[in-house]
Amino acid sequence: MTMDREHILHEMGLGPVWKLRVTPAAKLVEDLAAPAAAPVAPLQATVPAIAAAAAHVGMTWDELADTVAACRQCRLCEARKQAVLGVGDRNADWLFVGEGPGAEEDQRGEPFVGQAGKLLDNMLAAIGLKRGTDVYIANAVKCRPPENRTPAPEEAAACRPYLERQIELIQPKLIVALGRPAAQTLLQGEVKIASARGKLHDYRGIPLIITYHPAYLLRTLLDKAKAWEDLCFMRRTMKAQKGG
Ligand code: URA
Ligand code: SF4
Repeated sequence: MTMDREHILHEMGLGPVWKLRVTPAAKLVEDLAAPAAAPVAPLQATVPAIAAAAAHVGMTWDELADTVAACRQCRLCEARKQAVLGVGDRNADWLFVGEGPGAEEDQRGEPFVGQAGKLLDNMLAAIGLKRGTDVYIANAVKCRPPENRTPAPEEAAACRPYLERQIELIQPKLIVALGRPAAQTLLQGEVKIASARGKLHDYRGIPLIITYHPAYLLRTLLDKAKAWEDLCFMRRTMKAQKGG
């Protein structure tokens, strides 16, 4: 990597909006190894098929929104204020998938509106993207897990059909999984971010890139440099998807 760490950390900081500096970013992109297909170990735990599994098939956006708003397929419905379906361009090329709503998201009904959301917006800005324009943002689970705990496997499994239907409807050119729960939900297998990032994965024929969750980056300064690499990788992958 040719960018010096000081510079990267400055760029990744929470202060000013991240800016993609053309020269160093282009260099970074060159430096990145060609993506390799990444095998994923299947999950050991088999979650029993649940009623929601078939319910989403063929749903329109309106039906999906109504179904999710009223959903009681897992116990996360008990403490939520409201289910949070997602936000943005329903024909977006870019789909970002987080873990689940936090307190502010639960309150406002929109994903990534709290602290982690500010960082996500900065990450988007760094690659020339803006919430709502060619970008859709969703979560692996639509209802807030109490105390912001990680969603349990059966909760993620209960909610997955909604995300699957969202992806069918959006038909994004690239999916970005933010953090482990999102990656594991999409890939249906064990994922370790450290080894899964920087590779091109596949979700039913759609390229999938795995990176750190913004809330994790807020706590872990050093990994912001890696997140920067991941952003460059995303940008390069989308360029290739669009034919250069
Ligand atoms: N973290 C997430 O994973 N999703 C949100 O919507 C907010 C914070
Ligand atoms: Fe339904 Fe998903 Fe909410 Fe569980 S988290 S109640 S499956 S919408």
